Amino acid sequence: MGAQELRATAKAIVAEGKGLLAMDESNPTCNKRFARLGIPQTEETRRSYRELIVTTPGLGEFISGVILYDETIRQSRKDGNPFVKVITDAGIMPGIKVDTGAKDMAGHPGEKITEGLDGLRDRLAQYSQMGARFAKWRAVITIAAGIPSRGCIEANAHALARYAALCQEAGLVPIVEPEVLMDGEHTLERCCEVTEEALRTVFNQLYTQRVALECMILKPNMVLPGRDCPKQDSVEEVADATVTCLLRAVPAAVPGIAFLSGGQSGELASARLNAMNVRFKSRLPWALAFSFARAIQQPALEIWQGDEAHVSAAQQALYHRARCNSAARLGQYRPEMENNVG
Ligand code: 13P
Repeated sequence: MGAQELRATAKAIVAEGKGLLAMDESNPTCNKRFARLGIPQTEETRRSYRELIVTTPGLGEFISGVILYDETIRQSRKDGNPFVKVITDAGIMPGIKVDTGAKDMAGHPGEKITEGLDGLRDRLAQYSQMGARFAKWRAVITIAAGIPSRGCIEANAHALARYAALCQEAGLVPIVEPEVLMDGEHTLERCCEVTEEALRTVFNQLYTQRVALECMILKPNMVLPGRDCPKQDSVEEVADATVTCLLRAVPAAVPGIAFLSGGQSGELASARLNAMNVRFKSRLPWALAFSFARAIQQPALEIWQGDEAHVSAAQQALYHRARCNSAARLGQYRPEMENNVG
């Protein structure tokens, strides 16, 4: 696949009014979310839940692509129709998470390094053959006393850039995700500082590793106060801080920025994305979109509870969150939309 096709795929991921639905929870993460709701943690329940998501009627109106996990990309609907085909037939692009997880970083207490580069070229070739159009790799940066360290930021940025170069070689658009976690008591200003440093380091590494910026999507955190910070800033303050930070650190050649939700509620994630688009959209070089997992899926998962009888109601809740986020992309989200599910 040439650069032109990669560029077209990257643009299609952030097409007007659309964004990504992340459903790439690893088995342990998916099981943890199921356990909390008393849902059995088996391959079959994970398959059923993913079937619920990809068969949601009308999802393609708002969702350009879904991010799958290795187990999921190989699974099928109950009637035998492979998920990749179901997704593609719905006008949605399949993507795949390719990192193998954030592990404790040697010599860096409290910090993580994401693994998965060994054998990645071969895995990417396989996923491409299976129909994947893009890939995702998540790096995790933690804010606490004395961290993040330069060592952690540099090692993760280097791995992200090596991954992104391999993706482009394989004809897949890399979704580059350096996530600064919202866990902790830190302020919005501290998150802004750390996010800016992380992004600058990532883009330096992307340049060094010869990654074409036109053929990638950035998936960052929003700039937020820590979950336990006594001062919780307004939607407008978050929107301003996030866009200011991104303008300083993200080159204009990048076609799109698709935020992760990181543990925000669905409503807040929509409201904050909306505020960014209302206040800045006409002045920004890149599209501001979404690539949420929890902020799109959570209500649907809670309604489903593993019960076949709840599938339709859960799908309505999923469709609703996708619609709210699509509206947020256009600066047309209103809190009153929340009263009108289904
Ligand atoms: P959340 O939106 O739940 O943070 O997940 C996004 C994601 O893909 C994390 O890697």
